[in-house]
Amino acid sequence: RPEVVNSVAALRAQVSDWRRDGLRVAMVPTMGALHEGHLSLIRIAREKAERCVVSIFVNPTQFAPSEDLDKYPRQLARDLDLLARVKADLAFTPTVGAMYPAGFATRISVGGPSAGLESDFRPTFFEGVATVVAKLLLQATPDCAVFGEKDYQQLCVVRQLCRDLDLPVEIIGAPTIRDAHGLAMSSRNAYLDEAELAVARRLNAILRRAAAALAAGAHQDDATGEANRALIAAGFQKIDYVEARESLTLAPWRRDRAGRVLAAAWLGKTRLIDNVDVPVA
Ligand code: PAJ
Repeated sequence: RPEVVNSVAALRAQVSDWRRDGLRVAMVPTMGALHEGHLSLIRIAREKAERCVVSIFVNPTQFAPSEDLDKYPRQLARDLDLLARVKADLAFTPTVGAMYPAGFATRISVGGPSAGLESDFRPTFFEGVATVVAKLLLQATPDCAVFGEKDYQQLCVVRQLCRDLDLPVEIIGAPTIRDAHGLAMSSRNAYLDEAELAVARRLNAILRRAAAALAAGAHQDDATGEANRALIAAGFQKIDYVEARESLTLAPWRRDRAGRVLAAAWLGKTRLIDNVDVPVA
């Protein structure tokens, strides 16, 4: 098992020891309940740097009061076994009280790519994410940090955050890991019953079909409208959004730029997100 620290002082002591030895340090921020998606990020981190810190912290400030903070899966012992398997060097597991002591009063608000999509449905989500990611990166001061394309808008927001605040961290985006049916791995998949899982597994193919239609010349509203209908027909109860955006900035989609189709949809009480790239024709 990796060494586990829960204080910023112990984290910094370890990182400065490594740095004194000339070792490059990578960080992978997570909320735990680790799966193959997270492990793939750690494998990439270990290729990019000699040492890898994984943070496990279910960040309350990115959950709205109506969301699943209380039932979000927490399984530290199992997570540490998985971290040992992929040879993570250090697990950072701060408490909520240490991250947000009484009197904590700062929020980081990132503009640009945070507009629309998730923000229309989770209006305080990216403030919570940006604030905790800034804290984690300043606590660990890694050379690079790996984030998954699974949460594509989050990856764009983190890049914007680091660029705007001159955080000296290279942000590395990592491809989405999926099951054999195309379902993106997610800690929240654990909420799905068998019937819901079968529906969930159709999400990716529907988005890929929309992306292929766009690449073949379809009008944006036709491609996303058709995806919306297909998701409802598949059994999703509510579609928060299906949208095409420009992939680098998340600005409105343009046929002459690399694109991304992003979606969020509900299955019972579970909200799933996914995204695919739009092949340039
Ligand atoms: P969490 O959902 O635990 O995800 C941690 C990291 O794993 C994120 O960068 C996410 O994009 C990536 N990830 C999740 N599922 C993946 C998959 N199937 N394939 C590839 N990567 C995947 O995202 C968060 O935590 C939090 O918002 C956090 C950034 C830790 C801030 O609290």
